[in-house]
Amino acid sequence: MPWRCRFSAPLTVYAGVTQHKARSGSVSAVELEYRNRTPFPPRGTNVGGGPVTHDEGDEDMAHDRHPAATSVGPDLFRLDGRTAIITGGAGALGSAIARGFIAAGARVAIADRDAAGVEATVSRLALAGGEALALPVDVTNEAAVEQQIGATLDRWGRLDILINAAGFGSRGAAVDYDRERFQAIFEVNVTGMFLCCRIAGRAMIEAGSGAIVNIASIAGLIGYSGNPAYIASKGAVVQLTRALAVEWATTGVRVNAIAPGVIQAPGVAAQVAREPAFYDAFRAKHPMDRFGTPEEIVGPMIFLCAPAASFVTGHILAVDGGYVAQ
Ligand SMILES: NC(=O)c1ccc[n+]([C@@H]2O[C@H](COP(=O)([O-])OP(=O)(O)OC[C@H]3O[C@@H](n4cnc5c(N)ncnc54)[C@H](O)[C@@H]3O)[C@@H](O)[C@H]2O)c1
Repeated sequence: MPWRCRFSAPLTVYAGVTQHKARSGSVSAVELEYRNRTPFPPRGTNVGGGPVTHDEGDEDMAHDRHPAATSVGPDLFRLDGRTAIITGGAGALGSAIARGFIAAGARVAIADRDAAGVEATVSRLALAGGEALALPVDVTNEAAVEQQIGATLDRWGRLDILINAAGFGSRGAAVDYDRERFQAIFEVNVTGMFLCCRIAGRAMIEAGSGAIVNIASIAGLIGYSGNPAYIASKGAVVQLTRALAVEWATTGVRVNAIAPGVIQAPGVAAQVAREPAFYDAFRAKHPMDRFGTPEEIVGPMIFLCAPAASFVTGHILAVDGGYVAQ
């Protein structure tokens, strides 16, 4: 039996720059509009709120234009009216992203297994004037994830963005790394991420629009000593991102990943204190010769979720001070 949306809330469809409610078969309304569109609107037509600029000779390419790709106005990097779920939202990167999304105009749901951290983060966002929702949830608990995503849809009527930031690592030599420790990391970093993508993705596909960004790591792109499970899990995040991006490319749902270098977070500070020589060497391998800050993840994250990235899917954006450029 084909999948049917089980959420009770009516879904308002966001299509980047236009709202669509109709769908037909497995092709989104946006895609249908694109396919049926002839000819391209006359020069100067504005479907996105900002000025439209065309180069001379553009008419030759008119049949290749998607309606979401014709605005170059100031809203390219705004998230006004969007709703976002951020897993790991009580953590260092997740809470910085939440603050950035609120500043960009979005409402955010903080999903994290640290219930006290969820409440504290939501309170801080509310104090700053943002609209935030508390979702205490373990991403490996499928029923709980389904229930919490349903609660978000019931509250806000739409889900535009999913950020998967829940994750952790545990350093140790491969020869001593036991199976349970390895599996525990995969369970959260890969399986939990997949469950969130699948459950949120169903609602987004039903709506015909959505943006998912998974937090991978440079560890998913390069190898180094003493972190076998984390490195393997982040490699899986990279490939999961590409798999979903390709599978959902015509649905209106984009799936990308950010691969941070080492970011100054409390968890990292504790590791640096335990292994200062290792982290000194690690820092020196970042061409900028420093670690990043959680705030430096925010701009790239907004870009991948905003209309500016309407033609970007399956991309792994390294935010790493140049690490993987070497
Ligand atoms: N800090 C870095 O240097 C760095 C670098 C590259 C990638 N990353 C990745 O970025 C993400 C966030 O890292 P961070 O530094 O903010 O770490 P963090 O520990 O501050 O935040 C991670 C959050 O995930 C939550 N979490 C863990 N397991 C969960 C589960 N099963 N269900 C729900 N929530 C769960 C934790 O409670 C925590 O709040 C992670 O995926 C991490 O691997 C971090």
